[in-house]
This record gives sequence, C-alpha cells and structure tokens, in this order.
Amino acid sequence: MIFDLVTIFPDFFTSILEQGILKRALAGGQVEIRIHDLRDFTDDVHRTVDDRPFGGGPGMVFKPEPVFRAVEALRAESPQASFPVILLSPQGRLLRQPVAEELARETRVVLICGRYEGVDQRVAEHLATEELSIGDYVLSGGEIAAAVVMEAVARLLPGVLGNEESRVEESFAPVAVVYDCRPDFDHHGRDGFGASETASPASDLIQSGQHGLLDFPQYTRPAEFRGYKVPEVLLSGNHAEIRRWRRRAALEKTWRKRPDLLAKVPLSGEDRRTLEEIKVSAFQPVAS
Ligand code: ADE
Repeated sequence: MIFDLVTIFPDFFTSILEQGILKRALAGGQVEIRIHDLRDFTDDVHRTVDDRPFGGGPGMVFKPEPVFRAVEALRAESPQASFPVILLSPQGRLLRQPVAEELARETRVVLICGRYEGVDQRVAEHLATEELSIGDYVLSGGEIAAAVVMEAVARLLPGVLGNEESRVEESFAPVAVVYDCRPDFDHHGRDGFGASETASPASDLIQSGQHGLLDFPQYTRPAEFRGYKVPEVLLSGNHAEIRRWRRRAALEKTWRKRPDLLAKVPLSGEDRRTLEEIKVSAFQPVAS
C-alpha cells in the first residue's frame, strides 16, 4: 500500500520510518511511503504555503493552491484509480480501529498534514475525501497524526507483524489478527515460559480484545518482581483456566475503564454472569 504524505516538514518522518513497524513494513514491501514537500507545489520564489486569514484573527492559514496542486499531481499519476485523500484535522472522523481496518484495505492513501491554525476550508470541502482526527485534542500540525495513522494501518497489513501467519494457522480465523491490540507478541516462545506451555490455542486470540474489549493484562518473567507476583493461574499451564482468567480480566478492565465499550460487544451468557460477579465483588467491603 502506498502512503503519500503532503507536508511542510518532510524531515519529520525520517526517524519514525527508520524503526519499528513502519521500518519493517517498508523493508518487507508492504508499504511504500512517499513524502511530498508542500513547498514544491508553490509558484512564488518564497515558496509560500500560507497566508493571513480573511476576516482577521491570529495565525496563518494554508493556502488552497499548493495543496490542490499537490493532490492533483498525485491523482494524475493514476487517473483511473480512486483513493482516499485524508486531511488530518481535529475536526475529522475519529481514528478508531475499524477506521484503521478500512484504510488497510486501500491500495493507496494520501495524508495531508495540515496546520492547526488552519487549512483553507476549500481543501476539506472540495479536495479531501475526508478529515480524520486522532483524538479530541489539538496538535499544532498533522504530521504526528499522519504517523499515527500509518502505524495503525501498517500493522494490519498481511506479513507486517510477522507472527500473524502462526496466528491464522492456529485460529483459522483471519479476523483474529485484526483486533488483537496487544503489543507485538510472538506466540512461539517469546513470552518466556517455554514454547510447549505457550503455544496459544486459537481461542486465546479471540479473547484478546478482538471483540472490542480492552485487553487482558500481560506478564512475563520474572514471576515475582519486587514482591509483585504474576497471577498464579498464568503459571499453571492450565489453558482452560488461563482462558477463563483472561476473559474475566478483560471484562473487568473494560468495565472499570471503558464501560461504554461493553454495550457494543457481543457478550455470551457466561460473560454476563462473570460481569455480574465482577460488579458484586467490586462493591464488597474490603476485608480488614
Ligand atoms: N491536527 C491537529 N490536531 C489534530 C488531531 N487531533 N488529529 C488529527 N490532526 C490534527
């Protein structure tokens, strides 16, 4: 998949493309990232990209012409193709996992990094196909937001995480890869408890946040650190028990931190009973 970045800070992206998932996705050929300096699409000697706002007020606003020229040049490269042209902006649709999945199905995405003070409204209305926000807060530019979008999307592309083939093999459920929001996690040994104990059954993947719950807590060695112990059950090798514990932990974490998500998640009868238990025990007085 191709990401075309339109930015006034092309150097911003240097370091994030040299490590982690994006480096891997670039090296593996799953993504191509093309950085376009907006100033290359100006037509004055000062390479002016912004101007004062009509009607007065502080700050400068991106002029429409360079942005239109940049995107039109990209569209002209493949006139038959249609692809999203996204203006990063705090006013946009919120980036959530399903949005990342949607973008991961594209073959090309243009990301326009705006300035918070403003991009001429005609860009949003007549050039971009949509505006996308990474959260309800204000950044001074869209570069960090573009990096977040690329990172969230690239890790969903086949082959990028490296461990997904094994996940798919284990689960026969390609969807299991998509919503797994744990950090990179290798089911074959990297979790430190020895491959035989850790070969994860498929259902582990299904526990793992993919139905929209927050993830269960993860632990690695040592089993005791400064007196803090890893829950005994995780050391037991009893996979059925571990699965139950993880599901309960995910339900509890979600109930405590993001109860709004519970309304959107398909819960089994057992989940509902577990949730009731969690609620009841949360309101028990602490034994003294
Ligand atoms: N530009 C400024 N703030 C932003 C945000 N929250 N998301 C995306 N782009 C932005």
